[in-house]
Amino acid sequence: MLFTIFGATGDLTTKKLIPALYNLYFEEEMPENFKVINIGRRAYTSEAFVDEIREKMSGDYPRWEAFKKHLLYFQMDFSNSEAYPDFKKFVEDLPGQYRNRIFYLATAPRFFPIIAQALIQCKMIRRDDFREKIVFEKPFGEDLASAKAYNRLLLEAIDESQVFRIDHYLGKEMLQNILMVRFANKIFENIWNSESIESVKIYAMETESVKQRGGYYDHSGALKDMVQNHLFQTLSLVAMEPPGGLNDNLIKDEKVAVLDRVRVSDEVIYGQYAGYQNEKGIAPASTTETFVGLKLYIDTPRWKETPFYLVTGKMMSKKRAGIEITFKDATCFFEKGMPKKNKLFIEIFPREGLVLQFNGKAPGLAAYTMPMKLDYCHLCNVVGNSPEAYEKLISDVVHNDASLFTRWDEIESSWRIIDAMIEKKGLSKPVIYGSESEILSECEKRWKEPVFDEDMD
Ligand SMILES: NC(=O)c1ccc[n+]([C@@H]2O[C@H](COP(=O)([O-])OP(=O)(O)OC[C@H]3O[C@@H](n4cnc5c(N)ncnc54)[C@H](OP(=O)(O)O)[C@@H]3O)[C@@H](O)[C@H]2O)c1
Repeated sequence: MLFTIFGATGDLTTKKLIPALYNLYFEEEMPENFKVINIGRRAYTSEAFVDEIREKMSGDYPRWEAFKKHLLYFQMDFSNSEAYPDFKKFVEDLPGQYRNRIFYLATAPRFFPIIAQALIQCKMIRRDDFREKIVFEKPFGEDLASAKAYNRLLLEAIDESQVFRIDHYLGKEMLQNILMVRFANKIFENIWNSESIESVKIYAMETESVKQRGGYYDHSGALKDMVQNHLFQTLSLVAMEPPGGLNDNLIKDEKVAVLDRVRVSDEVIYGQYAGYQNEKGIAPASTTETFVGLKLYIDTPRWKETPFYLVTGKMMSKKRAGIEITFKDATCFFEKGMPKKNKLFIEIFPREGLVLQFNGKAPGLAAYTMPMKLDYCHLCNVVGNSPEAYEKLISDVVHNDASLFTRWDEIESSWRIIDAMIEKKGLSKPVIYGSESEILSECEKRWKEPVFDEDMD
């Protein structure tokens, strides 16, 4: 197998792709005969590239010396279509036969059509040769129009089954767990609606600034970088109707149905961290949002007026992601004690787990009610390591399993929402925040409720 990474000098390759490929190799999940071709425009020998990438990778890699023999570097400007015949020759001249070919586009979306078209034109990827596949990082497109154009270009030349649109959130264990928790438990099935649920919060907080990615991020912002993909994917799993079966397409049909019924409220808070405009690659007086606090509704009989809050931001105090489902107050006839609302926390990062908050009797003679928690730590009960999202997804591409990849109509529906939000937002100035608490208190003022449950911090 030949695994080619376009954009291999970038952050994603060092942080996620090479470690994931290494882990698959370590676990003997890679085919015996494989090469990873790393493409970048900087001048490196394969050896220098591999040494530099290893220096930047954190953690232990006991079989690195054996693994690194499978890594190659190929220097090329991937935006130049004339460079592809040389790349093709490089591949053809490799000793050994590599009929399974995966092209992984770890680049900004504006390069997607250029690279895809060049690969198609030089016949490195051909329709219906299912051993030739192309993987696109998120976000797929920069808006609905560009996403549609990219998709058309692809499907005119190759088959949908050769296209993998990645959203690595879907490879996370707890995202995969949402459907199990919802549909394999009678206790949740009957209360998963507006009758019982007061609100749902979905959050993904990052501590990092835009770092070296200012040029990309300033054209994207949190809406396109996080909400269009990770948060909408999570939302659709939480809110979807039961699918007609466990068939991948039936599940995706229900996810699309959720996105098509989203109604974004006027209570959207856009923030930008103080100092953003001084970062490298950012336009002067940029109004790009690095924080979004979004309140929306899903107009289905199940959800009626239940608010869903989606929150994401850069330069937050702690990196964390999860879902907080708050249930309505029970009719409580116990007079003493401090009962709290029932909550279900689905923890995605850093801990993977489930916490259910409920009320019970405080120990002692008196009938005091007090909140208590059932706590399940997903990782703690796993023998060995839980696979990283990228490991799972790369392995799925190798095995032609597209169930955790985004289908075109999911992308189309999510861009439709984001485009409308961007149009409404226009060039209005985001709230400048110096800290997480500053921007969250802005949300709390607007929404009249705390963003996070203080007990879960
Ligand atoms: N970083 C993450 O953790 C992460 C997580 C999830 C998804 N993603 C997605 O993954 C994609 C890539 O992200 P990234 O963070 O790796 O971006 P990045 O750090 O900007 O890397 C992109 C790489 O592409 C190279 N490049 C740009 N133009 C080129 C050209 N014409 N020819 C050859 N190489 C060229 C750049 O190399 P030069 O140095 O030569 O410019 C750069 O190293 C994005 O779509 C992003 O949304 C990233």
